[in-house]
Amino acid sequence: VEHLLGIKYLNPNDIDVIFKTADHFKEVINRPIKKVPSLRDITIANLFFENSTRTKLSFELAEKRLSADVINFSAGQSSVKKGETLIDTVNNILSMKVDIVVMRHGNVGAGVFLSKHVNAKIINAGDGTHEHPTQALLDSYSIREKLGTVKGKKIVIVGDILHSRVALSNIFALKLQGAEVKVCGPTTLIPKYISSLGVEVETNLKKALEWCDVANVLRVQHERMDIKYFPSTREYTQLFGINQEILDNLGKKIVIMHPGPINRGVEITSDVADSSESIILNQVENGVAVRMAVIYLLAQQIKR
Ligand code: CP
Repeated sequence: VEHLLGIKYLNPNDIDVIFKTADHFKEVINRPIKKVPSLRDITIANLFFENSTRTKLSFELAEKRLSADVINFSAGQSSVKKGETLIDTVNNILSMKVDIVVMRHGNVGAGVFLSKHVNAKIINAGDGTHEHPTQALLDSYSIREKLGTVKGKKIVIVGDILHSRVALSNIFALKLQGAEVKVCGPTTLIPKYISSLGVEVETNLKKALEWCDVANVLRVQHERMDIKYFPSTREYTQLFGINQEILDNLGKKIVIMHPGPINRGVEITSDVADSSESIILNQVENGVAVRMAVIYLLAQQIKR
């Protein structure tokens, strides 16, 4: 693939190549000298039109570990605030000889749009409610690391599926690798098209957790929703919040994941998020190696 715009543009072999490359970079970043000179001649712009902690820092670190030159742009402190368009913004940045653009944007399809209008490799770091491909890759990579494989594993994604780019990219990635996927949440927060993706809906949290090997717990995205979609926060926590008592009553251990940011005490309690079953910080750690792999593989296509 020419860009990383979404998991829907990948095939199982692409994911396999990314993971094998990430295995190598994970070993590299655990060495005393964590850097490789691979991308010394490559310049990367990180353009964030929406807030981010993990994705932004993880991309920047991945780029620096590969020895790329890095520039960072946050829309809030830029001339976007004076009315400059996306294309003008990006073309001005590209005229400074940028090779790869990593972009997070609030609009669905922003990465695809950019890839058609500018001459650079585009990596989608999250486009509205659509896709967050590197998050899904690092999530699958973390499942593979914890359980040995993704194939045949039962994964339930719990929470606000309707507004979640993490859910959609995870569904695509998990299905490509042969996992069984269910979603669990209030029916108002589950999109109607979900069954067309080969995903079952389970609205009973206890049943969903009894079924699964892994629960990927999502935040309720208040900032993207109209109040009509949503039960109150208290109702949500009562019906879909994961706490230690629920897990203790399952009679088996399951792996707990969360892409962050966590609303502690809403979708997950602190004792669960911080438990030995939680791989939440392993996901963050793996994000750097997986993003190094994605950037490295795309950079191999750039004429140098
Ligand atoms: N998981 C994730 O995308 O987190 P940030 O919004 O902090 O980047």
